[in-house]
Amino acid sequence: MSSGLALKSEPAPIVACTVSSMVHHFGLLIEDMENELGEAWGDLGFDEAREFINALEPGNLEFIALAVREEDETDLGRVGEVIRAARSKDIKVILIPENLTTAGLRELLRLGADDFVPYPLAEGALHDAIVKIRTEVQVPPPPQATSPEAPRVATGQRLDGQSAIFAVQNLAGGTGATTLAVNMAWELANIDKTNPPSVCVIDLDLQNGSVATYLDLPRREIMLEMLQDATSMDAQGFKQALVGFEDKLSVFTAPSEIVPLDIIGPEEVTAVLDLAAECFDIVIIDMPRTMVMWTDTVLNRADMYFATLELDLRSAQNAMRFIKALRSEDLPLDKVQYVLNRAPGMTDLNGKTRMKKMAESLGVSFSNMLPDGGKQVVQSCDNGEPLAESAKKNALRKEISKLAEGLYKAMVGEAKAKGK
Ligand SMILES: Nc1ncnc2c1ncn2[C@@H]1O[C@H](COP(=O)(O)OP(=O)(O)OP(=O)(O)O)[C@@H](O)[C@H]1O
Ligand SMILES: [Mg+2]
Repeated sequence: MSSGLALKSEPAPIVACTVSSMVHHFGLLIEDMENELGEAWGDLGFDEAREFINALEPGNLEFIALAVREEDETDLGRVGEVIRAARSKDIKVILIPENLTTAGLRELLRLGADDFVPYPLAEGALHDAIVKIRTEVQVPPPPQATSPEAPRVATGQRLDGQSAIFAVQNLAGGTGATTLAVNMAWELANIDKTNPPSVCVIDLDLQNGSVATYLDLPRREIMLEMLQDATSMDAQGFKQALVGFEDKLSVFTAPSEIVPLDIIGPEEVTAVLDLAAECFDIVIIDMPRTMVMWTDTVLNRADMYFATLELDLRSAQNAMRFIKALRSEDLPLDKVQYVLNRAPGMTDLNGKTRMKKMAESLGVSFSNMLPDGGKQVVQSCDNGEPLAESAKKNALRKEISKLAEGLYKAMVGEAKAKGK
């Protein structure tokens, strides 16, 4: 192992570095790095690493193993700067989190870590991550990321020739809107083996969007520009902005930087929706929690507007305000489908009574009740995989799959009724 700035003068070429506030805390990491790379690696602190990377020529370092402890969470900005510096020099980032909160982990993954392996490291986990990033380096970038060609997406029949637009908004933070949007999109993209509909997810949660995280997709710098220039964009330009998930799902990710929600207005949103509807059978929009000046644009345009909430006072009060706001603006409340997440199970009679009371007091009925899917759900989100891929039998997955089937049947039925 080499230390600090001595890196530059080491005779053995340094191909990687650990970056942490205290490398000696991560004994297993040191051991694994030695096993994988022998002497060809160094260790740096966060600030040191940022400066070191900034001074490097691109191609001089293969990856960093960024080890972040619970204690480092108070200053995640510093850690984020290391990721940014690494990305700017095409250095891969393997995140090694120890006891980070989901929000902290999500934030770091969102900034562009290529892979993550929780600490304490499981046997062979670092090795696998290194193999993975090395394979990724050798594979040419997917066409949707760089080439002017459109991403490969399923080219299903255009149902009735019109796209279905579904939007999802949470009425209280963390009530599963993005989990629903991503998994519903994936279920729909896989719903028909022989003639799948083409599906696009648009992440309009401009500040906290996590669709890219939940599907392990890169956030592209270009997104902000794309959004701002949406009114002059054509279908080809729109397709170039998309990234593909396993060639079956196309995603318009949120911008890589946090931007004000009013950086776009109804015109830009309308333009994006027009383009998406032109190119895809099904468009799913992940909306920000806050009501914005273009919420009504999406609401008016959507076929269905899913609002997620949970069985608590916070959700009930927010739902009440949401309904009142829509009513006062004369917006189409009938499109809103209330989705109760982490709904009480069959045997939870007390929960069921509370659920009934909540629905009655809001004057709504819950169109869908999603069960708590346990840790598998968080893990699948953190691993960037839809539930159908990582936890097929999970109760939440089953329920979202049913929801998607219902939607698809309705769409196909409608198309048939129109005689197309
Ligand atoms: N039914 C469920 N069972 C278990 N975990 C769930 C369930 N629904 C959501 N989660 C988990 O809760 C967390 C928040 O979910 P998600 O990001 O989908 O919510 P959100 O409403 O989009 O939140 P935000 O306010 O950040 O936009 C995630 O870690 C997700 O994996
Ligand atoms: Mg969300």
